[in-house]
Amino acid sequence: MAYRIEPLSPLGARVEVTDPDALLASPTAPGELLHALEIHGGVLVFPRLGLDAPTQLAFARRMGDVVVKTSAGWSRAHPGVYRVALDPAANDEFFVKGSWDWHIDGATSLGIPPKASLLACRTKPSAGGDTQFVDTYAAYDRLTAEEKRRFESLKVWHRIELDAYSTPMNLSPESLARLESEPAHLHPLIWTHRDGRKSLVIGVTATQVEGLPKAEGRALLRSLVDRATEPRYVLNHVWSVGDLVIWDNRGTMHRARPFEADSGRDMYRVMLEGDEPIQ
Ligand code: OGA
Ligand code: MN
Repeated sequence: MAYRIEPLSPLGARVEVTDPDALLASPTAPGELLHALEIHGGVLVFPRLGLDAPTQLAFARRMGDVVVKTSAGWSRAHPGVYRVALDPAANDEFFVKGSWDWHIDGATSLGIPPKASLLACRTKPSAGGDTQFVDTYAAYDRLTAEEKRRFESLKVWHRIELDAYSTPMNLSPESLARLESEPAHLHPLIWTHRDGRKSLVIGVTATQVEGLPKAEGRALLRSLVDRATEPRYVLNHVWSVGDLVIWDNRGTMHRARPFEADSGRDMYRVMLEGDEPIQ
């Protein structure tokens, strides 16, 4: 066995890799890891695995199709690799500071959100910059029976509204115009997955409940995020160089904790294509 899996609390598991080459070559590891992701609350932490960007990409490809884009942050040298760094040469400030609030990746994009993401630490921050996760299946399960009934038919508009973010951003007029022209997407508040399990679709992009006055909807959505992310439900990851974290983007929310541009934090992410629409 190239690795050992140990559950973490309150969600996730640590994958101690004893033989990285064997892990990368194993025909059964990709399927086993995707299964582990599912049964351990949607997060796998691989301490100091030390993959470089092309190897991270190759590892991801063995788990599924990889999302490739060419917009801000996406590598041209390694299509499918996306760089998270507070450096105007690396990425647009919005996409980095916008990830400091709880979110589900792809909730404001057209199409099916990514199934999972693999985030690796190239350079660790000198301060701040932890990444946090919560299980949105568990957040659904903790609702009262009355809430589950009441929320079943609610639909929520997801869009980028800068005043919903906790971090002030200094965006160029072009970035602002681009973000404000993004269309909104309507998702059910409760995602009923193919296996029948249900999760909440909330986060900073969830800005309005269809059919409710805006302020009332926003207050409801904020209270759901607050309840889902009480400290006792949060897994906090403190990065070391070479760590890799994989999260299931359908049944978790995540955020980075703030960091300074000169903290040195530099991360690479690869996403797996989703195959399950939010419904
Ligand atoms: C992301 C993201 C968080 C982080 O890459 O989608 O939200 O800790 N990253 O950098
Ligand atoms: Mn994200």
